Amino acid sequence: MILTVIILLFGLSATGGSSSVARAAGHRFLRTSRSLAEAAPLRPSELIIVYTTTPSRLPLVHATRPARRGIRTVIVLQDAREVAQLNERYGGEKSEHNETYLAWIDHASSASAGVNVGPYGRTAPVATHSLHLLGPAWAMAPLLAHAAVLASSSTPPLATATAASTSGGSSPLSPYRWMLIARDDTLWRPHQVVRLLSQYNDGVATAISDHLIDFNGHKLLAPSAAAAVCLPCSFNLTELLGRRHPPGVPQPSCPICRPASGCEFRFNLCGGLTGGEYCGTKRFLGSGDRCSHSWAAGGAGLALSITLLSYFNQEEWAGCVHAQRPSTGERSVGRCLWRNGFSFTHPAAGLPEGLTKDVFSSHHMLFGNPVVRQEIFGSSADAVLGPAYNAEAAAVRAAAAAAAAADKVAATGVVLAPGAVSRDGVESSGITVPASTRLPSAGAQDCDRECRQWLLRRGVNVHLDVPYTDDVDIKAAATVLQAAAEGMARATD
Ligand SMILES: *[C@@H]1O[C@H](CO)[C@@H](O)[C@H](O)[C@H]1NC(C)=O
Ligand SMILES: *[C@@H]1O[C@H](CO)[C@@H](O)[C@H](O)[C@H]1NC(C)=O
Repeated sequence: MILTVIILLFGLSATGGSSSVARAAGHRFLRTSRSLAEAAPLRPSELIIVYTTTPSRLPLVHATRPARRGIRTVIVLQDAREVAQLNERYGGEKSEHNETYLAWIDHASSASAGVNVGPYGRTAPVATHSLHLLGPAWAMAPLLAHAAVLASSSTPPLATATAASTSGGSSPLSPYRWMLIARDDTLWRPHQVVRLLSQYNDGVATAISDHLIDFNGHKLLAPSAAAAVCLPCSFNLTELLGRRHPPGVPQPSCPICRPASGCEFRFNLCGGLTGGEYCGTKRFLGSGDRCSHSWAAGGAGLALSITLLSYFNQEEWAGCVHAQRPSTGERSVGRCLWRNGFSFTHPAAGLPEGLTKDVFSSHHMLFGNPVVRQEIFGSSADAVLGPAYNAEAAAVRAAAAAAAAADKVAATGVVLAPGAVSRDGVESSGITVPASTRLPSAGAQDCDRECRQWLLRRGVNVHLDVPYTDDVDIKAAATVLQAAAEGMARATD
C-alpha cells in the first residue's frame, strides 16, 4: 500500500529529527547557491502548491486541478484519519493529480496520550472567525509541506547539487524551488508564476508578495502602501527613479530582505510621525528595526523560496504560531517570518517596465488582483457568491453596530467579523479579513483596456473568495473555479 500519511503533532518533538535534516539540507543549499545568470530556467514542475482546507471545502481544491497539472500539490487538513482516506482514494503524490494530503494534528493519538490537543491546545482562546480555526494549520502548512517533500524526494539535495556543479550547471535537481501558498479557492497561473519567479534566485531566502496587509493600530490597510517590505535586490533605483534614495520608496535589499529594512521604509514614509492616512500608532512605526510586521493577504498568497524554508525549525515555528492565537494563518505566517528575521520582497512589477513610479500601484499588483479576478471569472463569480457576500456584509454591519452600542472598538473604524468579541490583551483578534482580492461593490477601478491586458498577462493568481460560512453553495463555486482552471490549462500564455 503506497500510503504516505505524515502525522506531525503540534508542539511535540517527534519531528525534531526531520527538521534538522531539512536544516542541514538548507545550509548545503546556501553554499551552492547560484547566481541568477547561471540558474537553470524555472519550470512549473519545480513549484509546489500548498492549500489548507476543510473536508467541506475540498471540492474547491479539486476544482483547481486542470490548472496545476504536473505541479505537486500539498493539501493540509486537520484530521489524520481523513487524510489517510484521501491519500488512498486519490492515489497520493504518485497519482495523476500529484496530490499529497497531510494532517496537521492526530486527534486519535493525542486522545490516547491523554492530552486534549485541539487547534489551540488545552486553553483555547475564543476564535471569532472561521479563519482563526483554520489558522494554526494554515500557518504550519508551509513547514509541513517542505518536510514532506524533502522526505519523499529520492535525491538528496547534497548529491544533486554536487552533480550539478560538476556537470557544468545543468538543471540542479532540488526537490522543488518555490512554494506557493494561498487560500483553498485561489487559482495559481503557472505561466505567470514562472515568468515572475524566474527573476529571482531560489538559492536566496526570499518571500515574495505585492498584496500585503497591515494593522496600523487603528485599522487594517489592505492592500497596504505602508508595508514593511524591500524591493528586489536587482533593482537599481538610480536607473528606475532617478535617485538612489527616493523619498517614500522601499529600498532594494541584498541578498535578503530583513525587517529592519522594511521598518526604515515605513518610518521614512511617515516622517517618524503617527496618524494620517497610514501611520497609525507608535507601535506600528516602531523605531529602528522594531515596527509591526506586514503579512500577505491569504487569498492573494505568497511565494517562498526553498532556501527560506530550509532555515526554519518546525518546533520553533510551532511555538511562534502558538503564541499568536487566535489569528488567521496568513497573519501568523507573516509574523513568524518576521520573528525569524525575514520580511517580504515586493516585486513592484510595473516599475522596471516603466509603467509606473508608484511601487504600490494597484494596477500593477500581481498577487490576487481583483481586476484579474473579474477578467477570469466574469460575472459568474458574483452570480454564485453575491448572496453570501451580502449576508456577510449584513453580519459585519450588525456586529459593528452591536460593538458601537457597547462602546467598543467600532468607534475607531475597525470592522468586526460576524460574532466578533473585543478581548483585552488580544489586540484586533476579532478583526475581519478584508476582501481586498475582489472589487469593491461600489468602486470600479480605473484600469483601462491596456491596464487589464497587462494584468491578464502578468497576474500570478486569482482568488474566487468563497466565504467561510455554511450557507455557501460550494458545489456551484467549485464549478466556477473548475471552468476557469480548464480555460487556464488551454491557454498558452
Ligand atoms: C509529480 O510532481 C513531481 C514534481 O513536479 C514530478 O517529478 C512527478 O513526475 C509528478 N508525478 C506525476 C504522476 O505527474
Ligand atoms: C545604477 O545605475 C546608475 C545609473 O545608470 C549607475 O551609475 C550605477 O552604477 C548603478 N548601480 C549599480 C549598483 O549597478
